[in-house]
Amino acid sequence: MVVALLKKQQDENTAVASRIRVEQVSHGFDTLTGRLDVLEDIDLDIAPGEFVALLGPSGCGKSTLLRLVAGLEPASAGCITQDDKPITRPDPSRIVVFQDPTLFPWRTVWDNIALGLEAQGILKQEKARVDAALQKVGLEGFEKSYPHQLSGGMAQRVALARALVNNPKVLILDEPLGKLDSLTRLELQSELVSLWLKNGFSVLLVTHDVEEALFMAQRVIIFTPRPAKIAAELAVDLPYPRHRGDPKLAGLRHEVLDRLGLGTSW
Ligand SMILES: Nc1ncnc2c1ncn2[C@@H]1O[C@H](COP(=O)(O)OP(=O)(O)OP(=O)(O)O)[C@@H](O)[C@H]1O
Ligand SMILES: [Mg+2]
Repeated sequence: MVVALLKKQQDENTAVASRIRVEQVSHGFDTLTGRLDVLEDIDLDIAPGEFVALLGPSGCGKSTLLRLVAGLEPASAGCITQDDKPITRPDPSRIVVFQDPTLFPWRTVWDNIALGLEAQGILKQEKARVDAALQKVGLEGFEKSYPHQLSGGMAQRVALARALVNNPKVLILDEPLGKLDSLTRLELQSELVSLWLKNGFSVLLVTHDVEEALFMAQRVIIFTPRPAKIAAELAVDLPYPRHRGDPKLAGLRHEVLDRLGLGTSW
């Protein structure tokens, strides 16, 4: 039933979301001490509107994979496509949000959010999109504030709004809540899920937090230590909104920790 509903939702999302296919992707870096293999034979298919979380040991290659999907560098081998077209460069339809909000300190909240539209030369006619993005993340009233006047959670909301203003078809999140205090983190997890449900874009989320992955994603991919290979994949077949105390989440948590080699630590 849940699967059928999500499938229906995903079909409806096709217009606003992209399919991302990662096919036989390997990647490495040439360093002073030789070749460093980081990703090995990764195959990943993200359906339009799907929410997928990536978990794995520190340094295994998660951010590297996100950079490839964002188009920031080409894969050493294999192919990554967005709606069957090879990804060769960054594009406003695929937006990355990092752990640090990296706002421009001399620009107001409104001007920071407006950046993407300004870069595309469409700000003048599309100003309403900036106001809409501000409203989506609950920052009305702070449009004239400067970054130093914001809390960490608010700054990360600005970073999210700066991504959403582009109407992305894929939102790429690299530990976006990693630096926030635990309460703000829980609050923003729920907000991100509602934004996803309302907007329908596909999400690729990297997190170190097993509960966060299970609370938010429909599917969790677990990587091996570097070079990252896919070690396991788990479907989180639970409806939204989810409840943190759901015993099914606790069961899945145990399974994920086991797959990460931390089965005894709970
Ligand atoms: N530009 C680069 N040149 C050389 N090595 C790199 C480069 N970028 C990343 N690496 C190496 O690739 C490996 C994977 O890095 P990556 O940032 O993808 O890991 P990660 O899984 O995101 O780790 P974390 O969970 O700590 O963020 C690391 O060993 C890192 O040193
Ligand atoms: Mg990383």
